[in-house]
Amino acid sequence: MFSENLTWPKDLIDLRGLSVAHLMAILDAAESFREVSEREIKKVPTLRGKLVVLFFHENSTRTRLSFEVAAKRLSADTLSLSSSGSSMAKGETLLDTAKNIEAMAPDALVIRHSAAGAASFLGQRLRCPVLNAGDGAHAHPTQARLDLFSIRRPKGRIEGLKVAIIGDIAHSRVARSNLIGLGTLGARVAVAGPPSMLVRSLSEEYGVEVYHRPEPALEGADVIIMLRIQLERQSGQLFPGAREYARVYGLSQAKLALAQPDALVLHPGPVNQGVEMTPEVYHSPQSLILDQVTNGVAVRMALLYLLVDNPERPKSLVV
Ligand code: CP
Repeated sequence: MFSENLTWPKDLIDLRGLSVAHLMAILDAAESFREVSEREIKKVPTLRGKLVVLFFHENSTRTRLSFEVAAKRLSADTLSLSSSGSSMAKGETLLDTAKNIEAMAPDALVIRHSAAGAASFLGQRLRCPVLNAGDGAHAHPTQARLDLFSIRRPKGRIEGLKVAIIGDIAHSRVARSNLIGLGTLGARVAVAGPPSMLVRSLSEEYGVEVYHRPEPALEGADVIIMLRIQLERQSGQLFPGAREYARVYGLSQAKLALAQPDALVLHPGPVNQGVEMTPEVYHSPQSLILDQVTNGVAVRMALLYLLVDNPERPKSLVV
């Protein structure tokens, strides 16, 4: 259960520096909040009177909606801003926009931005907690936490599991955050992708096994995380074509059979069915892809609960 003794950073930028105890406390808190989401009345008064601003400077479906649902289930008020409908389209800078939001006294700012470092930049300049909802290819810490949560629920642990991460590692903020989280919690990680979608330092930096073919990574895996091809972050054509990519790296039933019989299949979404995995795998009982979305709400409720300053916070999480 949640430990009141842990201190939390002001902002949530990435997973670096968080201890096993911190990660476990988040997963335990999320477990309580998942139960709230299963009640008939899916709302608790924990953040009543607080304002959470969702500032999405890049497209999103899952992260944006689940942060909004999470804040609302905690009874916080929410404001939503995207770059296309804001005065940034008239040339106002990111910092000026954020300072204007700050003038309305938010209790937390959730930011997604195409530039790596944008969340950290704002965190250093704003008084309220800043939660990174994805910054360029740098980090997607709430996605990694919901992936850890989604794995721990059915498996009961992270430590000792073999986790295969397949696809566009180089451009994936989800992969980077998961490599840190899975490493901290003691998983054995094997990554695979075309050489053009891998970075040289993966093995040294994260202590993972690196393959150019998916089969050795999938062999005996307990968990498979498939990644989207991040076309918006690629500067050139990194593979011959979608059909060729699907044939070599896409997860088919035949490739899935290389993993443990009860292996879990995750994907952060959006999924290109027929490219990153076949529709059969997407819809198979081993696929956790829509569970990840459900769990995303619980994990983001936990993070808002832990980071938003709230002197009336109850001692017990279940309210
Ligand atoms: N997983 C994820 O970040 O999805 P969205 O881009 O839809 O938020």
